[in-house]
Amino acid sequence: MNTVKSVRELRAAVAQARAEGKQIAFVPTMGNLHAGHAALVEKAAQRADFVVASIFVNPLQFGPSEDLDKYPRTLLADQEKLVEAGCHLLFTPDVEEMYPHGMEGQTRVSVPGVSEGLCGASRPGHFEGVATVVSKLFNMVQPDLAIFGQKDFQQLAVIRTLVRDLNMPIQIIGEPTVRAEDGLALSSRNGYLNAEQREAAPVLYRSLQDMATAIRAGERNYSKLVATAQQQHDAAGFRPDYLEVRESNNLRPATADDQQLVILVAAYIGNTRLIDNLAFDLNTSA
Ligand code: PAF
Repeated sequence: MNTVKSVRELRAAVAQARAEGKQIAFVPTMGNLHAGHAALVEKAAQRADFVVASIFVNPLQFGPSEDLDKYPRTLLADQEKLVEAGCHLLFTPDVEEMYPHGMEGQTRVSVPGVSEGLCGASRPGHFEGVATVVSKLFNMVQPDLAIFGQKDFQQLAVIRTLVRDLNMPIQIIGEPTVRAEDGLALSSRNGYLNAEQREAAPVLYRSLQDMATAIRAGERNYSKLVATAQQQHDAAGFRPDYLEVRESNNLRPATADDQQLVILVAAYIGNTRLIDNLAFDLNTSA
């Protein structure tokens, strides 16, 4: 695997792969890779001949009181994992390479609708930062397809929408969340949890499963289900951010008639904010 830091080197390496007739798959990340990222890269390697990954902790998507400075940077370990998963080219730009004219006057990409509410409400500007950096990365790499985790369900919806609205010829693939044995969704932020918090954390996913089971059994009083789940979260030491049932295609609040649903949760344990979701279709068992 070749690691490059500049857009010029990135473009040259991708151009060479293209000249060899290869299909290009892209997996953007912020590093501190875990098995969830490895699954995205493995999927990319199955779907295309040339896999590009990026590691860039994007300041534009962090709020002023968020964890930009302490976000874990683990390049050597990440490179090993990427090689093992089948990555061919790693792009690790620094902030000056990504934003050579500064971030203040940087052209922004904003995606109305799906960016609003949920994480968009609790992290103002976050999805604009994500949409902007992902658009820039897409223009730099120009992949045929790009792969994202479904754990960031709203982010995936934002990216699908921007690709559609800006006519980018890139196929977006969402990959299922990888979980620890006790159900906790893998996340770079799990590393912030102490032993007690780590033990409590799987309650989030368990409560989503309980809610989905109740909805499948015919319950449509979503507020009641949310209140019950929130009591479980409180008892486990979580502070709520949001817990909502939404229609999974457009992320609008779910009605009693909707069949494709997603339950999304964000909650704090100590200073760590965890998110998770469970999407399901009432017409199928999946
Ligand atoms: O999901 C992430 O790791 C980031 O939001 C992304 C898509 C790499 C953009 O910085």
